[in-house]
Amino acid sequence: MIEAIDLEQTYMSGGKPLTVLKQINLAIEAEGFVAIIGPSGSGKTTLLGLLAGLDRPTKGIVRLDGQDLGRLTEDQRATLRADKVGFVFQTFQLIPTLTALENVMVPIELRGNHTHEVKELEENAMELLARVGLGARMDHYPTQLSGGEQQRVGLARAFASAPKILLADEPTGSLDGETGRTVIRLLEELNQDAKTTLVLVTHDWELASRARRVVRLQAGSVVSDTLNPPA
Ligand SMILES: Nc1ncnc2c1ncn2[C@@H]1O[C@H](COP(=O)(O)OP(=O)(O)O)[C@@H](O)[C@H]1O
Ligand SMILES: [Mg+2]
Repeated sequence: MIEAIDLEQTYMSGGKPLTVLKQINLAIEAEGFVAIIGPSGSGKTTLLGLLAGLDRPTKGIVRLDGQDLGRLTEDQRATLRADKVGFVFQTFQLIPTLTALENVMVPIELRGNHTHEVKELEENAMELLARVGLGARMDHYPTQLSGGEQQRVGLARAFASAPKILLADEPTGSLDGETGRTVIRLLEELNQDAKTTLVLVTHDWELASRARRVVRLQAGSVVSDTLNPPA
């Protein structure tokens, strides 16, 4: 479902090249559930951005659902993302001029779904917000929401298009224990019932222990790749 071959990412930093990912080789099967862990600065967010096709690697290949992202135009990559990929950003990235509900509706609208009534799509978005505990916050704007609430809007938005692949950067990072567990349950349901392939960057041991596979990054390289014992 997701394949990375000899990925490398180098940034120019103060006039000097800085290689933040090197020789990354990963194959993630359909319906997989992978946690990526590693210290701050080890390249986790960079890797997730490359796997989602949000950024282009300096070297190497990413294939999503069989398609080589490097061979697609910007528009084709955007269409592929809209059709198949949900992304939860570490910094939430909500649109400040839209309410929580409107933010959740964005990917549904981008996808241009003509087979459902707007009403039905809106009900689906409302249900998702209710499930992440924001039933009473749907008409609030991002600035009126706490960090954890914004994170949950970001999650509901990612779930809204029922993506085949969900990439999430620290999805429980701003949540308290109880809300974090609700989100972990939602992610597990998505993986088990909706068959969504999950790739999560996390510091949360509870979340990492629920994954089937844990990939550890250190200084831009994969230093371990292990399977968790079955639950
Ligand atoms: N756009 C960029 N330009 C220059 N350096 C960057 C850029 N993005 C990330 N980096 C650097 O790449 C390294 C890895 O960053 P990141 O992927 O965000 O790590 P993590 O998510 O594991 O904390 C860091 O040293 C960071 O400063
Ligand atoms: Mg990060």
